[in-house]
Amino acid sequence: MPKERYFDPDFYQLEVDLLWPRVWQMACRLEEIPRPNDFVEYEFLDQSVVVVRTEDLGVRAFQNACRHRGVQFVKGRGTCEDGFKCPFHGWCYGLDGKNTTVPRRKSFSEHNMEPDELDLVPVRCETWGGCAWINFDVDAPPVRQCFEPAATILDAWRVESMRTEQWYAARLPVNWKLAIEAFVEMYHVLVTHPQLDITGMRYTMRPGEPFDPTAFIEAEIEYLRVMCEGMDGMVHANDVTVAEGLRAMVLPNDPAEAVSIWNRALNDAVISFNRDRHADIPDINELDAQGWNDTFYQCFPHYFVLPMYSGASSYRFRPLGPEETLMEIWSLARLPQGEEPSPRAAPEAWPPNDSRWPPIPAQDFSNLPRQQKGLHAKGFEYMRLNERLEGHISNLQRTIDGFLAGLPYEQLLPALEKVNVAPFDKPILDLGF
Ligand code: FES
Ligand SMILES: [Fe+2]
Repeated sequence: MPKERYFDPDFYQLEVDLLWPRVWQMACRLEEIPRPNDFVEYEFLDQSVVVVRTEDLGVRAFQNACRHRGVQFVKGRGTCEDGFKCPFHGWCYGLDGKNTTVPRRKSFSEHNMEPDELDLVPVRCETWGGCAWINFDVDAPPVRQCFEPAATILDAWRVESMRTEQWYAARLPVNWKLAIEAFVEMYHVLVTHPQLDITGMRYTMRPGEPFDPTAFIEAEIEYLRVMCEGMDGMVHANDVTVAEGLRAMVLPNDPAEAVSIWNRALNDAVISFNRDRHADIPDINELDAQGWNDTFYQCFPHYFVLPMYSGASSYRFRPLGPEETLMEIWSLARLPQGEEPSPRAAPEAWPPNDSRWPPIPAQDFSNLPRQQKGLHAKGFEYMRLNERLEGHISNLQRTIDGFLAGLPYEQLLPALEKVNVAPFDKPILDLGF
């Protein structure tokens, strides 16, 4: 992988001009705007988009620029009871973007008051997976289609019924692709996260020793606990409690049989725990049977969902410059139906070495700034990817190239289907271009 893609200002500009204007961007979680008239501003590079809840609980989006002299008419988030009012001269707009007021209208020339030129400029906006999505390209296929097959799998996980429990933000001194690529392979896990031995069964049998079902159960519970604390919720604390309740289970002495019985029992217990409290949860044994049980799905280019048992984490990455990225992490949970969390303010962005980071992201962030700097070394020419374990990085970057080449969606959609998947241990794939 040529190193210039991670810092060259010309390459970055190509992405700004040819990639980002054509892809679906996660503008906000829907619980940020629960009621009609609630709005939130989504900032991306030099663009600002206002996403607003309509009366029928749909969403609409507009470019955040008053049609008079360009002032951004909102900042941050809030509720606009009577539509939007520009703070400069008081032009007003309805939730449908229609201009409703121009103070001293008669003093403008008629050609400056063409009715259809005074309304807010709409931005394409769709909802999926508990989020509002925007796209500056009117010709892009619908959001769900651009995220297949991840969309179908995450719908089966019912991610749309999860709600935010934690929300973090990191300001990382690295290119946005470098930030993403720190999370899409398992090759780093043994060295970067030594506490997570997930190279197979967490319980390891010593040679010559018989399988010990009790030690296996303890190891599984410990793994869930480490994942829960390490990510602040990727495995929900409730799931750890549920697993602890199965401690006394009697498992057979055959390891393969024991693993399968344990997995089923834990899934069943998590399902009943959630259904008993009227939280929406799918049959996760069914998802296992379909092979839809990976813990990490990409929605190209900048959004990820990591579903596990009754919770999930999700990530969003936004470039702030060629060598700076804003990464956000949400811990999501299944709440009893009808229970809605109160909207929270966007988090302050912490630096990668902030002592408040939970252990797992802290470990990932410890490598990133050093990698970005190392890429600049004169003698370092390109990254050598492991074809079997790090193929997703190549697939991802070549999909970006498809956008930079201006390929039509007929050609891009098959490539998107190869990157909107669980990225771990994926080989380098033929994308068709
Ligand atoms: S710039 Fe908005 S009213 Fe003048
Ligand atoms: Fe990691």
